[in-house]
Amino acid sequence: MTAPDADGGDPADAGSVVEAVFDAVAETAPEIRAALPGRRVKSGTENASGESVMAGDLYADELLGDAITAVDGVGSFVSEEREAAVDAGGAVGEGAYAVAIDPLDGSSNLRSNNAMGTVVGVYDAPLPATGRDLVAAGYVLYGPITTMVVADDDGVREEVVEAGADGSVSRSVVEDNLRLPDDPLVYGFGGRVPDWTDEFTAYAREIEDELKLRYGGAMVGDVNQVLTYGGIFAYPALVDAPDGKLRLSFEANPIAYIVERAGGAATDGEVDILDVEPEGVHDRVPLYVGNEELVERLKAALD
Ligand code: AHG
Ligand code: MN
Ligand code: MN
Repeated sequence: MTAPDADGGDPADAGSVVEAVFDAVAETAPEIRAALPGRRVKSGTENASGESVMAGDLYADELLGDAITAVDGVGSFVSEEREAAVDAGGAVGEGAYAVAIDPLDGSSNLRSNNAMGTVVGVYDAPLPATGRDLVAAGYVLYGPITTMVVADDDGVREEVVEAGADGSVSRSVVEDNLRLPDDPLVYGFGGRVPDWTDEFTAYAREIEDELKLRYGGAMVGDVNQVLTYGGIFAYPALVDAPDGKLRLSFEANPIAYIVERAGGAATDGEVDILDVEPEGVHDRVPLYVGNEELVERLKAALD
């Protein structure tokens, strides 16, 4: 697949566009991290999902939007913090790519100083698209250190991203073939227990007897624990919110793409997340993701 650059110059292939997108994401990471201490307050606005937006959300969205739309081969940009797609030049699906991001996932953790991050999906089709149109996905995790996980056709890698003294950004690959451990250890389930369905509650009771609770309120941090230790993360369908909370285009699809390439599975409770057909770029979907055996048990429990 080749992608003409924004001004119709030499075509770029998927690999070089994906590389340039994650170079841009990595370049902004230290700047976003450094800006967080001063942006732990509500902005006073709501986003397309009707959720309160933090100052950190807006800053990350602005920085990442500028950096990603400037990449040759990116034709369209979608963000949790923007109602509609931004035209970045180039026909998506005919050589240009669409990038969907959650600029700051888990921003409610800003006040409590817990982990949060950025989620990125690179699609080879106009959005909203199914996860089968993803050509790459990744996330930045702002924990005690800043890491970036990137998945593409070659597999899943983890990098440490650091700001150099001279303002440069240094990246080092610490795992070049990230795989889910075979023996699961942790679980993290979102929502309030009284809002869970009876079927999910019964499943959760089984898992609670088998695994250790690791729920931090930011999907990227909780999924990173599952990728590191093995297990399952879920933001389930709720009694009064059957579509759950997480958005397909820039949360569930990229995470499903990554975890599947690390040897795991991801479902909305019935079908693979990557097969869910969205109507809009802010569509919500229940997400159950992690070790395949645990995901299969979940699907049977909800059946
Ligand atoms: P965001 O900050 O991008 O809106 O995402 C928050 C999401 C996700 O990161 C996390 O798994 C979930 O919200 C936590 O929801 P609860 O606060 O209901 O646990
Ligand atoms: Mn999020
Ligand atoms: Mn967010």
